[in-house]
Amino acid sequence: MSKSRELFERDGNALSTVMSLRFCPFVAESGEGAVLRDPDGKEYLDLTAGWGVANVGYCHPRVTKAVTDQMKTLSFATTISVPNMKSVELAEKLKELVPGNFDKSVWFGHSGSDANEFIAKIIPYATGRSKILTFVGSYHGQTMGSYVMSGHPAQSRFSGGGNVVKLPYPYCYRCAFEKEKESCDLFCLRYIEDYIFDAVTSPDQVGAIVLEAIQCDGGDVVPADGFMQGIEKLCRKYGILLIIDEVKIGFGRTGKMFGFEHWGIEPDIVVMAKPMGSGQPISAVVGRKDIMNAGIGMHYFTTAGNPVACAAALETIGIINDEKLVENAKEVGDYFVHELEKLKDKHEIISDVRGKGLVIGVELVKDRETKEPATDEAAKVLYRGYELGLLFYNSGINSNVLEFTPPLVITKEQVDFAVSVLDKAIEDVVNGKVPDEKLAEFAGWSS
Ligand SMILES: Cc1ncc(COP(=O)(O)O)c(C=O)c1O
Repeated sequence: MSKSRELFERDGNALSTVMSLRFCPFVAESGEGAVLRDPDGKEYLDLTAGWGVANVGYCHPRVTKAVTDQMKTLSFATTISVPNMKSVELAEKLKELVPGNFDKSVWFGHSGSDANEFIAKIIPYATGRSKILTFVGSYHGQTMGSYVMSGHPAQSRFSGGGNVVKLPYPYCYRCAFEKEKESCDLFCLRYIEDYIFDAVTSPDQVGAIVLEAIQCDGGDVVPADGFMQGIEKLCRKYGILLIIDEVKIGFGRTGKMFGFEHWGIEPDIVVMAKPMGSGQPISAVVGRKDIMNAGIGMHYFTTAGNPVACAAALETIGIINDEKLVENAKEVGDYFVHELEKLKDKHEIISDVRGKGLVIGVELVKDRETKEPATDEAAKVLYRGYELGLLFYNSGINSNVLEFTPPLVITKEQVDFAVSVLDKAIEDVVNGKVPDEKLAEFAGWSS
């Protein structure tokens, strides 16, 4: 048995299945830049960044040094009761980074989930309005409040909350209203004002609209131009807070520091996590001071915003700037999309290529006319990709979108390799060379 397989089985015996979504039997031993190695020494080009975490690449020497140095100076202080320099510096930095000429304050946690939990808790309390509007297909986390705000099918099976109203996201390729992008005049926006605010909840009951600037787990869906601006207008008209969840695409991935900047909007609150600490557990909510400071001691965690995680985050932000990773995300991302469009011309199964910077989705269908999702085929393509040395996952409400969110340090040469593997993997799947049995353990989102 290979060392990888052995570890995979030990993992299966020792760790709860509740914490896993498995797409292939890859096991990680070491990494550098955009490349990961398994315990048998095989190299893989990673197009996942570990679900969008490793923006500056794996084992960046500057992050390693920052974490090591901080461990030697002050390994821990709890922000609940003891201010420390690194968390103050990081909070000040984040206030500068987030656009908006108003007084801001910063909250720290460990994950996207606990950050969105803060939103679920604070909004009704601070605004006196009980309702929160979120979107079908959104993923905001796994704690109860963040879970309830989410609209991903992998979560809707388990629970829902009475104060959250879920709206259709502008997924133009599969419009919920069966309209055409060219002629719809953003009906999904009018639907909120004309129907939801009329029949489901009056706007003065709504504390916030919470959305992703690109819906990632929902299928890497880029909203139609005008939609985000329209949501902002709606918020201003009715005194509703605009909250953007940047957990997955923040910190440079889209070719801007934050994804919402593509639409020139100014959210009241921004939620961030994943890539912030390059793997050190840290999340943040940055927003209007009056909302952020609505209560004292109502959402804190003992190790949140600890100096080691904050040191990692400060260094990560420095690297993103110094290595021009925002620019690289734009340039290499555009190149990647261009090459994927060529694959679309070659393979009928590819029906849509979309994204911004280095968040890219490739939707697979059985038939371009009916748009029937090619869900099993997507699972097989990513399994075959793994066999050929390429790691990626699938996303989407039908699990039929190949998702590419590589470390932002990825090069065009690495993209060429990725595209050649994808070409071969798709060809093999279409020609029936990947048997169903291979997928038995790897149901991913459908687990
Ligand atoms: C947009 C978004 N928000 C929140 C989360 C939850 O983050 P975490 O897994 O760190 O709790 C995710 C995770 O995929 C996400 O994509």
